[in-house]
Amino acid sequence: MTRRLKRLLVAGAAGFIGSNFVRHLRRTHPDVEITVLDKLTYAGNLANLAELDGQPGYRFVHGDICDEKLVDSLAAETDAIVNFAAETHVDRSLMDPFAFVETDVRGTAVLCEAARKHGHEVFLLISTDEVYGDVRTGRSTETDPLKPRSPYSASKAGGEHIAQAYAESFGLPLLVTRGSNNYGPHQYPEKLIPVLITNAIDDRPLPLYNDGSAVRDYVFVEDHCRAIDQVLHEAPVGNVYNIGTGVETSGLQVAEAVLAIMGKPKSLIEFVADRPGHDYRYALDISRITALGWETQVELGEGLERTVRWYVDHPDWWRPLKSGEYWEYYRRNYRPLVT
Ligand code: NAD
Ligand code: TYD
Repeated sequence: MTRRLKRLLVAGAAGFIGSNFVRHLRRTHPDVEITVLDKLTYAGNLANLAELDGQPGYRFVHGDICDEKLVDSLAAETDAIVNFAAETHVDRSLMDPFAFVETDVRGTAVLCEAARKHGHEVFLLISTDEVYGDVRTGRSTETDPLKPRSPYSASKAGGEHIAQAYAESFGLPLLVTRGSNNYGPHQYPEKLIPVLITNAIDDRPLPLYNDGSAVRDYVFVEDHCRAIDQVLHEAPVGNVYNIGTGVETSGLQVAEAVLAIMGKPKSLIEFVADRPGHDYRYALDISRITALGWETQVELGEGLERTVRWYVDHPDWWRPLKSGEYWEYYRRNYRPLVT
């Protein structure tokens, strides 16, 4: 099936994945009118969308997904919503959980209500593999129970549950994607890979929690965006899709690969105190998304090289972010490893 969408409301697209997705969609579906709604939190950045400024069929609205009146008026002018808007960083969720509950749960409910009221064709909620919780063995399938363990993942699971309740109770045409760890251009330098790269550029220590052995599935952001595009246009409503590569990589392996690409010594790696409640492993069964015809195109080695090159070439993008509040957060977050 192919869904022909005309007017799309994309929430949270001034951030990392949303901005990559909007640029991707301009290429694959240039006829779709796009309204971006974003609060421009510390993680939102208009520079991420600068190349779209002034393009016909694109507009940016500065606002909060929790603002019922604003969301209602934008939903009245559109046919579908893709929601990227969220507080997204686990370590920050341990410092300020309420902001996560507000945006990731209540904000999602506000969007669902507006989509229901205006009879939208589809509501796509961008969720995360973290809702499955720590997966010590096997791989998570879409029907597994959700067992989130951090305020971030619990808030994302809360958003999923409210959206699911709208689907069950009011027939909201819901799609959910559960992506694994994204990396690539325009990622705010608080997540692992941009922390490693930008610190290595400046010969600062590369902090790894505990012994760096926690495992993630790192997916290049463009691959994730292609999958989201495919789900949005082709998937039957009512479905959930895991999106990842199926490859497991430890933090230490990522750090060593980044240092090798950059020609920097391994002695830059610094083991620091573990994240409280650190999920040791996420691993996805990706058979459902591959059955739609999607597959990984950019393997980790190539993706890391492209990402390193982008950060090396764009200090004007990330250097201003690593100042003031960022270093306050950084000092609060990273503590010495006590052995
Ligand atoms: P990000 O932190 O880079 O961007 C989040 C965006 O949402 C920012 O532009 C921010 O200004 C905006 N925002 C926050 N609160 C808002 C509010 N109340 N109203 C309107 N806008 C608001 O995040 P990201 O890494 O691009 O993640 C995007 C989505 O994908 C999130 O829903 C996240 O949970 C999900 N996800 C992320 C990853 C990952 O590895 N980064 C993996 C899987 C799923
Ligand atoms: P992160 O990028 O925060 O994503 P997640 O939401 O999956 O936790 O972290 C990825 C992995 O890297 C996770 O196991 C925690 C670890 N990590 C570090 O070791 N050092 C760091 O500075 C950060 C940010 C993460």
